[in-house]
Amino acid sequence: MKTSTFSTILCACGLFTSAQVLALDAATQDEAIGQARQLIQRYGGNLKKELKQAIKSGGVAQAVETCHLKAPDIASDLSDQSGWTVRRTSLKVRNLEDAPDRWETRVLEQFEQRRKAGEPLDHMDYSETVTRNGKTLFRYMKAIPTGKICLKCHGESVDSQVEKQLDSLYPFDQARGFHVGDIRGAFSVSKEVK
Ligand code: HEC
Repeated sequence: MKTSTFSTILCACGLFTSAQVLALDAATQDEAIGQARQLIQRYGGNLKKELKQAIKSGGVAQAVETCHLKAPDIASDLSDQSGWTVRRTSLKVRNLEDAPDRWETRVLEQFEQRRKAGEPLDHMDYSETVTRNGKTLFRYMKAIPTGKICLKCHGESVDSQVEKQLDSLYPFDQARGFHVGDIRGAFSVSKEVK
């Protein structure tokens, strides 16, 4: 009896210790989530601003080129400024550079399950502390809903000029055929934690 209680305690401690390696304390985790959310708000805001300006000044087909040129820069500028890795990803990508890694694929699939179960997309997010190549990373993802304006370039049927532009810049484009309320993809940010 005594021995079994003892081993239960040992076992519980063992579990606790190994979980501790990958779990940040609550305050650090809250802070990291707060930073990630702020960063994504800035990132999303910058992207939307550029998109709206580009459509207004040159039309949708022209805006495809602006997205092509500016979207990667916006992400890398924010990464440089913040010390986080900042990107967008999706289960159906336009730019192959945005293809998800294994962890991101799992989270995107989990988001799809949650959407199917009726969870609204506006606050759908997920975070985890993981080890990768010997480094400990805090990773955070937030779902990106498809809105009406997105359909102009990601919808089932797009204007022929837009289609031409997309075909020439993205011969492997998978990011079409979306409907309002679908998950278009997700913001994905990470940073190394000690
Ligand atoms: C003017 C056309 C246009 C509109 C409108 C548009 N996008 Fe895109 N989108 C693009 C292009 C072009 C890319 C690829 C950018 C690159 O090369 O990095 C892209 C890439 C993305 C990506 C990155 C993943 C991938 O597929 O490579 C996401 C996520 C995304 N768009 C979401 C949206 C959402 C959400 C909206 C609506 C708010 C939207 N887009 C509206 C043209 C557009």
